[in-house]
Amino acid sequence: MSNGAYATAYERSINDPDAFWGEAATAIEWITPPTTVLDASRPPFYRWFTGGTLNTCFNALDRHVRDGRGDQVALYYDSPVTEVKSSLTYAALLDQVSRFAGALAGLGVTKGDRVLVYMPMVPEAVVAMLACARLGAVHSVVFGGFAPAELSARIEDAKPKVIVSATCGIEPSRTIAYRPMLEGGIDRSEHKPEHVIMLQRPQLTSEPGPQAHPWVEHDWHALLVSAQQAGCVEVAATDPLYILYTSGTTGRPKGIVRDNGGHAVALRWSMENIYDIHPGEVWFTASDVGWVVGHSYIVYAPLLTGATTILYEGKPVGTPDASAFWRIISEYGAKAMFTAPTAYRAIKREDPGGEKMAGHDISGLRNVFLAGERLDPDTYHWANDILHCEVVDNWWQTETGWPIAANLRGLDPMPIKPGSPSVRVPGYDVQVLDEVGALCDRGNEGAIAIRLPLPPGTLPTLWQDDDRYVSGYLSVYEGYYLTGDGGLIDEDGYVYVMGRTDDVLNVAGHRLSTGSIEAALAGHPDVAECAVIGVADDFKGQIPRGLVVLKGGIDAQAEGERIRKELVQRVRDEVGAVASLKQVDIVAALPKTRSGKILRKTMRELADGKVPTIPGTIEDASVLDALKDTLAHTQH
Ligand code: COA
Ligand code: AMP
Repeated sequence: MSNGAYATAYERSINDPDAFWGEAATAIEWITPPTTVLDASRPPFYRWFTGGTLNTCFNALDRHVRDGRGDQVALYYDSPVTEVKSSLTYAALLDQVSRFAGALAGLGVTKGDRVLVYMPMVPEAVVAMLACARLGAVHSVVFGGFAPAELSARIEDAKPKVIVSATCGIEPSRTIAYRPMLEGGIDRSEHKPEHVIMLQRPQLTSEPGPQAHPWVEHDWHALLVSAQQAGCVEVAATDPLYILYTSGTTGRPKGIVRDNGGHAVALRWSMENIYDIHPGEVWFTASDVGWVVGHSYIVYAPLLTGATTILYEGKPVGTPDASAFWRIISEYGAKAMFTAPTAYRAIKREDPGGEKMAGHDISGLRNVFLAGERLDPDTYHWANDILHCEVVDNWWQTETGWPIAANLRGLDPMPIKPGSPSVRVPGYDVQVLDEVGALCDRGNEGAIAIRLPLPPGTLPTLWQDDDRYVSGYLSVYEGYYLTGDGGLIDEDGYVYVMGRTDDVLNVAGHRLSTGSIEAALAGHPDVAECAVIGVADDFKGQIPRGLVVLKGGIDAQAEGERIRKELVQRVRDEVGAVASLKQVDIVAALPKTRSGKILRKTMRELADGKVPTIPGTIEDASVLDALKDTLAHTQH
């Protein structure tokens, strides 16, 4: 490992976090500078930059306009699915954001109120997020691919005063009407918003139905025309900027809270030190604003940096073909891009020889960053061979909001070891622990945990649920945050992340909960019991499989086909097509421990062709034996 800039920065970040992060904080403009850098007065709840006040939107927009970047493009919108391309300068984006903030304020939104954003990849989604930040309101963006059950769980927990939505999302194969999902989501929730703001998209317009609703619907454009511009509201560094729900193992999503101060400091630092992107440069993240990668690296980090971001409403393939990314990179002059490995596997599958690169000049590209799931060495080598620039894995999660392990391209680029996201990022004291919480020797696999405190920008807690934060993340190993991933650190300090140790699914870089999919299956009238497991898939990394036990008296032979089809459809309708559940097997019984816990991990191992871990507490081993053949056949 390098003994240079990285080693010095890492050592300082862990041993003198006040100095390290105090210095990083000078890149952010504060209204009142913080009085404390690391506030350790209430462990295990650590806070950053207490006493400081700022506004995140000011740092992302106003200050750049003030400092002469008004005419620089802040955001390129490129939408092959609607054949629209447009751009917004920093001045234009500021104008839209301050007017939309005025519109929200006109509806009574003030500091601390929640605003839920359920939108496709359109610039208005970014405008809505930044407008909330401007008012000190807390946004909660819900991925547009989620169906009513997922949406309603988020409405219930966040209790938004306003929901901002659009009439449709556009997938290459179809137009997705949002209104039925939005109304379905609100109907199922006890909490109702006071207002819904609807962006009418020309591809599918829709008006509210005749039924009476407790909320008032407003048209995005009409509201904006009459709105006054709103200024920036001063918030505490520790005030929440947003809540982003993520999947745990149960059906109840976890509301990850992001604060204002730590977030701004960490993202600004990461942009130059990890991603090597500087003010004025163009950066392309192909993800969705509904995921953490979209929050951090489509919206906040590039704008906090004064860089130019690209919002891409399309896919790596099929819109129109595997040249999509190369076109974007060359057309806008992107210096680096970021996406999930699955996207590169999709391109590899369509265009293994990279012929579609012809005619696109991507020589300005310095790095391609991949995260969201494990970067398998095959995909790494393929991408590396065709790209002629560095392909850089980085590991993190919704909870952290920015990388835990990375190759720090701007600080101290290091040799890349395929299969590893490289080293611990400054601020993260990552350790590998065994079952009793002892440190594993270098090279030995265990649970990856991070010694507290976590660095700025990471979750301070779960939304209004300190207890769940502690029980879900901090209670397994005293003094550590449990990442939920297993892996090792090698002799050179490189981290290897092998996969989740819990039942969280990762399908095409989308994090999904087994619990939500199980809840959808269990709601079918013929199902007595069910389990969902994530099995290995060459393309999507993982895909879910469902196993169901039917209620007594149902003839599986005669009814099986119908029930299986209905179950697949139920998951699409409740959770979303993004769950990608295609295979449901009807089985006689599910393997359990004597206390009734379903042995999902054992089934997963069998499906993946691994030697299964069979706990001594298994209730009836013959149940597992009977499932072996079924599990061995995954439809890919
Ligand atoms: N709204 C509505 N539906 C959506 C959606 C959205 N935003 N995103 C995906 N879906 C639907 C898809 O249309 C598909 O429906 P189908 O079953 O009817 O075909 C289904 O959900 C599964 O989608 P996906 O897993 O994305 O598979 P895909 O075959 O459509 O595309 C990739 C595969 C690799 C091209 C795509 O997953 C991709 O671009 N991945 C990049 C990963 C990424 O962005 N990760 C986010 C974190 S970095
Ligand atoms: P999400 O919260 O959606 O970002 O998902 C986080 C999870 O995705 C992590 O806990 C890992 O299991 C997985 N993950 C993300 N990035 C990587 C990576 N670079 N290598 C391996 N796994 C990853």
